[in-house]
This record gives sequence, C-alpha cells and structure tokens, in this order.
Amino acid sequence: MTFGQPTVSDGPRLWELVNQAGNLDVNSRYAYLLWCRDFAGTSVVARDAAGRAAGFITGYLRPSAPDVYFVWQVAVASDHRRRGLARRMLDHVVDALRPHGVRFVETTVTPDNKASMRLFESFAEANGTAMSLDVLFSEQELGSGHEPEVLHRIGPLAD
Ligand SMILES: CC(C)(COP(=O)(O)OP(=O)(O)OC[C@H]1O[C@@H](n2cnc3c(N)ncnc32)[C@H](O)[C@@H]1OP(=O)(O)O)[C@@H](O)C(=O)NCCC(=O)NCCS
Repeated sequence: MTFGQPTVSDGPRLWELVNQAGNLDVNSRYAYLLWCRDFAGTSVVARDAAGRAAGFITGYLRPSAPDVYFVWQVAVASDHRRRGLARRMLDHVVDALRPHGVRFVETTVTPDNKASMRLFESFAEANGTAMSLDVLFSEQELGSGHEPEVLHRIGPLAD
C-alpha cells in the first residue's frame, strides 16, 4: 500500500467505497469530487500495487479552530479490513498535519459502529492522550431514523 493525497480522478472510487461500506451516509458524487479537489491536503488515499484505492480518509481543519482536524469519512474496502490500514491512514494524515499546529482529532461515530469506535480508541491510546464523547447531532436533528452522531474528541496530541 502507498499513501497519498486524493486527486479529482479518485472521486468516483471514494463514492464507490462509501456505497459498498453499507453503513455510511452516501453523499453525491459531486461531493466526493469536490472534496478531492479542495480538501486533498487534509485527506489520504491508500492505493494497492495496481494503483486502485483500497481505503481513504477525508477530513478538514475546522475553520473556527484550526488546531482541530475533523475526520469526515473513513472507509476501507472489505477485502482489506482488519489489517491496520485505517489506523495507518489516520497516523499518516495526522502526522502530516502536526507541523501545521493540529493538536486535536475529532470525528463522529454512530453508537453501533464498533469498528470505527475501536479505530479512534486505538489512535488515542497509541498517542497516550484522552478521548471524550458527547452527542453532536441527535436523532431528531438527523431525522429519517438516523442514529445519533457521537462526537469523539481526541487530544491534546504531543508536538
Ligand atoms: C471502520 C473501518 C474504516 C476500519 O478499517 P480497518 O482498516 O479494518 O481498521 P484497522 O485494521 O486499522 O483497525 C483499527 C482498530 O479497530 C479494530 N477493529 C477493526 N475492525 C473491527 C471490528 N469490525 N470490530 C471490532 N474492532 C475492529 C482493530 O482491531 C484495531 O484495533 P487495535 O488497534 O486495538 O488492534 C472499516 O471497518 C470500514 O471501512 N467500515 C465501514 C465504513 C465505516 O464504518 N467507517 C467509519 C465511520 S466514518
């Protein structure tokens, strides 16, 4: 696997990985194309030997708190899971952002997503730092029977 920033040509594959995951909110292809164009510097794609994206993380620096890296979506193709790929992508993208002042990682996870919860717990443990949980968006706010989105805030990270 090699890690790098996405380009616009990765947009359709990111959309496909989210569709295949089955438990993520699927946004429009436009959203993934735009993300790959404008937020490439805070996102990462893992490519297999053939150059095909096997996983990705999309995220951004919060405009009102640029020391916070917010992870928007993470997905790993089912045949590449449980091999540490998501953890390595998270380490890769956060390590690249630390020199730019990132000290906290935030994401939201639905309470039924054990894999995602463990991914962020594992990251907090490896960094020897705390992780706090708080509902960010409720079922009422999200509507359509959506599970609540629980904010996981990790940090502070060491310099
Ligand atoms: C969540 C997801 C990205 C994890 O990817 P992955 O590459 O398999 O994760 P890793 O192998 O790096 O594992 C990270 C940690 O989570 C644990 N983990 C991974 N999958 C797990 C599962 N299904 N159940 C419990 N723990 C799990 C691993 O054991 C590891 O913990 P450790 O460091 O203590 O060993 C992947 O399962 C996925 O794409 N799921 C569908 C999309 C999704 O739910 N995305 C997250 C919400 S945006």
